[in-house]
Amino acid sequence: MTELGPVAWPPAPIRTERLVLRESEAQDRAAFIELFASPKVRTYLGGPRPRDELEREVPELPGRRPGLFVIDLDGAMIGAITLDRRDAERPGHIRPDAGEAELGYMFLPGAWGCGYAAEACAAALGWFAGAFPGEPVVLCTQTANDRSTHLAAKLGFTEVERFEEWGAEQWFGVWSPVASSGLREIRPDQYGHPAPPVRPHVRPGSPARKPKRLGSLSNASIG
Ligand SMILES: CC(C)(COP(=O)(O)OP(=O)(O)OC[C@H]1O[C@@H](n2cnc3c(N)ncnc32)[C@H](O)[C@@H]1OP(=O)(O)O)[C@@H](O)C(=O)NCCC(=O)NCCS
Repeated sequence: MTELGPVAWPPAPIRTERLVLRESEAQDRAAFIELFASPKVRTYLGGPRPRDELEREVPELPGRRPGLFVIDLDGAMIGAITLDRRDAERPGHIRPDAGEAELGYMFLPGAWGCGYAAEACAAALGWFAGAFPGEPVVLCTQTANDRSTHLAAKLGFTEVERFEEWGAEQWFGVWSPVASSGLREIRPDQYGHPAPPVRPHVRPGSPARKPKRLGSLSNASIG
């Protein structure tokens, strides 16, 4: 995982109708541990991590790095969203030089089914469109992860390809600010730069990919 790149970070907290996207704080530590220890959250992300291990390893101030937004509902963390650069050695690219911005998301199960993930991700994409005008964002999630593929489609991601990784079929999609005019927060007239053409890129002679135990977003450092 590579960090997002030159951008003023953190941005001022982003307020949506019900949520705040903000930098992490020490009070979020328990929620970070819960996210990574939850079998439900981690079903498609390589499985839960042992809680005692997390208690030992998660720093006092977890998740404080460019590209990681804590999602706050009424003062409490309910999830996290990441925007990172996609590793070149992983499958799934739309640029010859790789390093695409990639969206990841994890929400506590108690916050599922309320539209919070869609609301927060739309705001994060809106922020990204302002910070990196015209740049597309990619997303990779297991095909079996129905909630996630549904959310991806709702946000305006469209399928580029599918491939096997970590022993499961992955759905790889792309979002561009121009194409996603359906989102309230992101208007093409607001970010009037044409998005670069999007097409899957297969690099000839790519080295064999290292299998990784953990899935999307789980690669993101929480330290
Ligand atoms: C993927 C994940 C974020 C999806 O969360 P979610 O709560 O299902 O997603 P949404 O925010 O889209 O909300 C879903 C439903 O809330 C309902 N809802 C209830 N009240 C609502 C409101 N006020 N506004 C909007 N939707 C509302 C809607 O019915 C919506 O479903 P719909 O799109 O069919 O209308 C969540 O399942 C998760 O954290 N999974 C574990 C981590 C993971 O697998 N991440 C993927 C790797 S990137």
